[in-house]
Amino acid sequence: METTRVTTTDKDVESLETDLLVYFATQVKDKAPKCDKAVAAQVKKAFNLGDFKGKQGEQLFYYPAVLGKKKQPNAKRVLVLGLGKVASEEDRAMGCECLREAGGHLAKVCEKIQAKEMIISLPLLDILGADKTAASLIEGVLLGDYRFTKYKKVTRKKTDYPGLGAVKFAATSSVKLVRRGVLQGKIWAQAACAARDMAHEPGNGWTSADFAAFAKDIAKRHGLDYRCIEKKEMEKLGMGGILAVNQGSVIPPRMVILEYQPAKKSETILLVGKGLTFDSGGISLKPGAGMEDMKYDMCGGAAVLAAMQAVAEEKPSVGVVAIIPATDNMPSGSAVRPGDIIRHYNRVTAEIINTDAEGRMILGDALAYGIETYKPDCVVDVATLTGAVVIGLGHHYSGLISNNDTLALCLEEAGKQAGEPIWRLPLNKHYKKQIESKVADIKNIGGKAGGTITAAAYLSNFVGKTPWAHLDIAGTAWDFTEKAYIPKGPSGIGVRTFLTLIRNWETGKLK
Ligand code: BES
Ligand code: MN
Ligand code: ZN
Repeated sequence: METTRVTTTDKDVESLETDLLVYFATQVKDKAPKCDKAVAAQVKKAFNLGDFKGKQGEQLFYYPAVLGKKKQPNAKRVLVLGLGKVASEEDRAMGCECLREAGGHLAKVCEKIQAKEMIISLPLLDILGADKTAASLIEGVLLGDYRFTKYKKVTRKKTDYPGLGAVKFAATSSVKLVRRGVLQGKIWAQAACAARDMAHEPGNGWTSADFAAFAKDIAKRHGLDYRCIEKKEMEKLGMGGILAVNQGSVIPPRMVILEYQPAKKSETILLVGKGLTFDSGGISLKPGAGMEDMKYDMCGGAAVLAAMQAVAEEKPSVGVVAIIPATDNMPSGSAVRPGDIIRHYNRVTAEIINTDAEGRMILGDALAYGIETYKPDCVVDVATLTGAVVIGLGHHYSGLISNNDTLALCLEEAGKQAGEPIWRLPLNKHYKKQIESKVADIKNIGGKAGGTITAAAYLSNFVGKTPWAHLDIAGTAWDFTEKAYIPKGPSGIGVRTFLTLIRNWETGKLK
């Protein structure tokens, strides 16, 4: 929940009153699980009875008041949550993911017991610092505690759980580190939740104007540069791609731009996100069944804008520019037709064979304009671009296509660290040949075979030699792998991957 108060304390947790006090236990082969000495006796007892091994997600509850002894915790309930073995292994990314899932489990427990607040006694893990541990846990809690209730006011019961009011972290050492981790985890989780909020909004609740307003608000609050290219200016600039897609719509298109530059001159990362606020397919109309899901076709734009919210708050030492080409794709007497030829911002002409392959058309203009204007050191675009990526990778990996091996590696690594896995697909001249047109420079579809790659082949015409990576999140932006901290519906995917990429870029770990 966005309004959840998150704090850190170095007070003795046993003296604090709360709905739920949480400790953790890690699994040890053939031995009692490792845990804080405050709960060691209970854990050992449960282990000896065969009730608790500390497996991932395993829960051991007890109720201190009932035991009646003195010096019992003041909490109404104590929970020991199993972390499994993962956290004791070498792999840091897996450790973080395990903690995020633990946080998600905690959010579910809190909903079940209707907890207003909980205190988390931070586990000490050898492989992760206290900051990463706290960050991952709070990410999991806040992402798991997410709910979208804006349009459910009348039928919602008073007793429905409103979400966590407060979370307190208790740490007796490294309090400064924990504070830093908690703050960062909170910023990242809130950004991902903001992306989910945008995605949840239907086509009549989130238009190009809403993208613009959200960006403007970030700029105002944090001093970023905001620009919005309106329809008239698009016409002047010759942005034939986004204009063509918008032709059937009564809502004007917008190219929303946010620029963050650090005080000290640095490299610049350009992020471009598909902000298609509703994709009917246009004249190449989609079938009716499931068409309502196409309100999610703006998840790329949401990811980019939400990431900027966190960038604005964290102020990294690398520059970040975000561009969101935003419009809906509607059929009408004025809509673009199959067979029409359009001219993009960079003068490349395209024959429109299928008006439902519209994402690449709006991204083409945004990529070419962004690269020319901001001369970034690399560009990453993110889009719910093809149904084909769902066939190829299912709902568990986002597809990646890139013209640069180093950038591709950076993204794969960032995705792994964020718990948002990415799988690279190839691109070469044979795929590019599939989108050759008889009458224009290119055409906008390349046949059934390799649909995700031929879509990327189209985009490759707008990036020149700039290191570029394209993420196809059509399979992961919603219905993403079920996890304790990813509820059904929009996942907010991409946000934390981008923030991780930016962080790694800053520290120069991968370049
Ligand atoms: N927004 C869709 C892609 C999509 C499909 C996202 C399913 C999420 C779930 C995109 O604009 C589209 O319609 N792509 C077409 C391309 C085709 C016409 C070449 C597709 O994938 O069917
Ligand atoms: Mn489409
Ligand atoms: Zn689309």
